[in-house]
Amino acid sequence: MSALLEKVDQSRLPKHIAIIMDGNGRWAKEKGQDRLFGHFHGVESVRNIVEGCAELKIEYLTLYAFSTENWDRPEYEVVGLMELLVTTIRNEVESLDQNNIRLHVIGDLSMLPEYARKELNEALEITSKNSGLNLIMALSYSGRWELLNAVKNIAWEVKHNRLNVEDIDQDTLQQYLCTSEFPDPELMIRTSGEFRISNFLLYQLAYAELYFTNVRWPDFRKENLYEALLDFQNRERRFGKTGEQVSG
Ligand code: IPE
Ligand code: IPE
Ligand code: MG
Repeated sequence: MSALLEKVDQSRLPKHIAIIMDGNGRWAKEKGQDRLFGHFHGVESVRNIVEGCAELKIEYLTLYAFSTENWDRPEYEVVGLMELLVTTIRNEVESLDQNNIRLHVIGDLSMLPEYARKELNEALEITSKNSGLNLIMALSYSGRWELLNAVKNIAWEVKHNRLNVEDIDQDTLQQYLCTSEFPDPELMIRTSGEFRISNFLLYQLAYAELYFTNVRWPDFRKENLYEALLDFQNRERRFGKTGEQVSG
């Protein structure tokens, strides 16, 4: 076992880890390569981190793979990413299934090309009975898109007299988010030295512990995950209370 892993308290692990996988483009440029080369290598990190989370029996892992804003990137990169997505899903679905991993997708899937949607739906179906790690891919996702969608759907229910305005509470809103089945992430990791949320899980991250590392996503491995977990375990999560209240 790795020395770092030995220090991780297995009884105090987060149930849900969310990751902004950033830095593929810069990683590639630093090697004199095309940005797509970075995305390609980012898949290795995904495999490694999914495996690491499954070994630790983490229940939920959300990976930010593509934001609604990422559609505005140069066409060759968007197309390259879609093709990478499809080949990766195709290559990995069997191994996900064998490892009892259940795949979920959150985001505006109507934006995805038909062939990608089809591949994803198959993978969702194949892994739908699995009860181990829930791997949630945020694809064509943004927090504002999700909240707007939730508000529209709630308004629709009110308009058709299926919901009373007075009865709308946080649980109602929760039900209309695309993450309604999942608990909020306790730990959010962003790689590559950017200190921002970039429209990720805006509502769900309300009380998440944020962890930033300079490591570029294609270099991120289990050891880096353990470092993040150790950091997380040294935090005092107060949820608005005083330190005395939560430690006493
Ligand atoms: C993250 O890496 C992957 C996606 C956003 C799809 P980037 O492509 O953003 O890499 P940098 O930030 O430009 O280095
Ligand atoms: C956030 O990264 C989205 C994903 C990692 C999928 P970006 O690289 O798109 O974020 P910004 O543009 O630097 O904020
Ligand atoms: Mg980036």
